Amino acid sequence: MSRIGLLGGTFNPIHKGHIAMAKAAMEGMLLDEVWLLPSGTPPHKEILDDISSYDRFQMCELAVSQEEHLVVKDFEQYCLLPNFSYKTLAYLHKTYEQHQFFFIIGDDSLRYFHEWVHPEWIVKYADIVVINRNALEKDAPSGSISNDFDLQSVLEIQKKRVPGQYTIVDMDPVDISSSEIRARLLQGEETDWLNPDVVQYIREHRLYQKKETIDMRPIMEDIKRNVKASRYLHILGVMDTAANLAMRYSYPVEVARLAGLLHDCTKHMNAEDQLQYCKEHGLSVTEGEKKAPQLLHSKTGAVFAKENYGIQDPEILHAIEVHTTGCREMSLLDKIVFIADYIEPSRDKAPRLKEIRAVSYVDLDLAMAMILSDTINYLKNNHKSMDSGTLETYDYYKDVLTRRGQDLTLL
Ligand SMILES: [Fe+2]
Ligand SMILES: [Fe+2]
Repeated sequence: MSRIGLLGGTFNPIHKGHIAMAKAAMEGMLLDEVWLLPSGTPPHKEILDDISSYDRFQMCELAVSQEEHLVVKDFEQYCLLPNFSYKTLAYLHKTYEQHQFFFIIGDDSLRYFHEWVHPEWIVKYADIVVINRNALEKDAPSGSISNDFDLQSVLEIQKKRVPGQYTIVDMDPVDISSSEIRARLLQGEETDWLNPDVVQYIREHRLYQKKETIDMRPIMEDIKRNVKASRYLHILGVMDTAANLAMRYSYPVEVARLAGLLHDCTKHMNAEDQLQYCKEHGLSVTEGEKKAPQLLHSKTGAVFAKENYGIQDPEILHAIEVHTTGCREMSLLDKIVFIADYIEPSRDKAPRLKEIRAVSYVDLDLAMAMILSDTINYLKNNHKSMDSGTLETYDYYKDVLTRRGQDLTLL
């Protein structure tokens, strides 16, 4: 029989205080593991800032990736209706008869534990571990016991109301909350309370950020006027495919659509115009680009989008800039636009397009490497000039896959 701690929450976002709480319970109760249960739609709190349960789950996974005995479980992740703890516990009790469960709550939650839905079922299936964080509920919910009572007194009152096994475990006070962290992130401030991988995830997926909306219609009309009908069809295909990939990988859909719309915005310029535009705007031109000036439309496109359409978002401008050759350490949006450009529905010439389309929705890095591998083969077989950037990006993503121990036979 294993002793399993259960720590539920919205984890919006998960921070070091949550991890400390799980570890305090583990040490205090000699637990074998603590399972983190990120909620779907929680009964007690509202999910703020439109952060999906998918993102909260992914952040939990990143936060525990280096923690040996902490495990994230998805029992509650996809619940659309409020999923009450008693239901989860009934399910766990039935499914894992071999485990003894310990339900971890904060001292603030103990004050209104009797108000939860069917607390008598919770204590039936688990021992309650109360983590004493010295947390004072600033706005205590109605029905909670006043802060004038110390924790031991609160426990005695609650034991009478909901009889069961309770243990208090002390931990060092943690002076942070998810709501404070969200407020700091919204102001663009740094915080030490998050795991660096969680910070990276938040940045990459643009969570807890102010959202700007740009009217895409005048840009669409202008691009439609500038380019051939077949090119416009391709642009619309990239826009839609970028939106689909954004949905799959939890990236702001409108940002991906805009980047997709803009990616070929200087494609109407011929080679001479491209070189002239670079000269006028002080853009450097490599030897490879001199031989194949059509590659320049990514560089000129980024400047054109800024100057002509007022795009300031550095991520969008960068995604346009690298969409032909790619680069090392591409952002999520860079990859989305690069891949959408290759797999959009009106494309029909590339080999194994169906395979790459399928892989794109499973593994972006593998899709990147497959596209680059096929592009390099095509250029070689047709004796076309190749930009060194394409080769460098291919080597980089091949290395990424190798480091992950991934099978490279698809390349
Ligand atoms: Fe392009
Ligand atoms: Fe394109």
